[in-house]
Amino acid sequence: MSSENQKAKKELQPSLPRHVAIIMDGNGRWAKNHGKLRNFGHQAGVQSVRRAVNFAVSHQFDALTLYAFSSENWNRPIHEVSALMELFVQALDSEVKSLHRRNVRLRIIGDISRFGIRLQERIRYSEELTHHNNGLTLNIAANYGGRWDIIQGVQQIAIQVQDGILRPDQIDENVLCRVICMNELAPVDLVIRTGGEYRISNFLLWQIAYAELFFTDVLWPDFNDTVFNKALNAFARRNRRFGGMTSHDVNNIS
Ligand code: FPP
Repeated sequence: MSSENQKAKKELQPSLPRHVAIIMDGNGRWAKNHGKLRNFGHQAGVQSVRRAVNFAVSHQFDALTLYAFSSENWNRPIHEVSALMELFVQALDSEVKSLHRRNVRLRIIGDISRFGIRLQERIRYSEELTHHNNGLTLNIAANYGGRWDIIQGVQQIAIQVQDGILRPDQIDENVLCRVICMNELAPVDLVIRTGGEYRISNFLLWQIAYAELFFTDVLWPDFNDTVFNKALNAFARRNRRFGGMTSHDVNNIS
């Protein structure tokens, strides 16, 4: 099926999300439960990333966005941060060819300037290699923060105002939308958080204004297709009103 036909089919199936975002939490606790060091949990987390990407490809999502490293994660012990960076390099090296074969477009969202040169090079290579793919878009949020995202957008707008391209009174929701990360993708429909916490932790803020939220106690390395399906079933049962009313509500007004 062509990607145009796939998109048309999904528009007819509003019960399926087009864009899913995941807060992958619980690697450390998973490792502890197995009597291992935290990095062992992060390594096991890579397997779950692979499973989640396969699931997203086979369910023909437009986009999957994974929170891999927040702006606040720099506060972790230096050895954990270094091990995570090494893991990202290894994961990019081992996965990018397979992602490319499956028509996945890989992108990193976040401020990558703070990463080491080796990692930055891998990121650039992977993004360029997969740039023209039009299957799943896989966004990895790395050194990402929802507040950072809004600030970088506001800075872009401020430059446009300074250059006389835009007047302050022209700044509206659409203008800000255009400078926020992932603005060209389908809106985030569903956010899943593993690991039993019920918060957003400075992940996508602007983008999830109308997203449905699904929380599970399952720790990220144990996240599998069964849990992913549970999240999709919960999503399909939600009554999405986007601040208005559904046709069902309208028909029931006496
Ligand atoms: C949160 O668990 C997880 C992270 C900060 C790292 C996420 C990274 C991966 C899943 C591995 C690699 C990812 C890619 C995209 C290759 P935690 O350490 O906060 O767990 P805890 O709450 O149990 O301590």
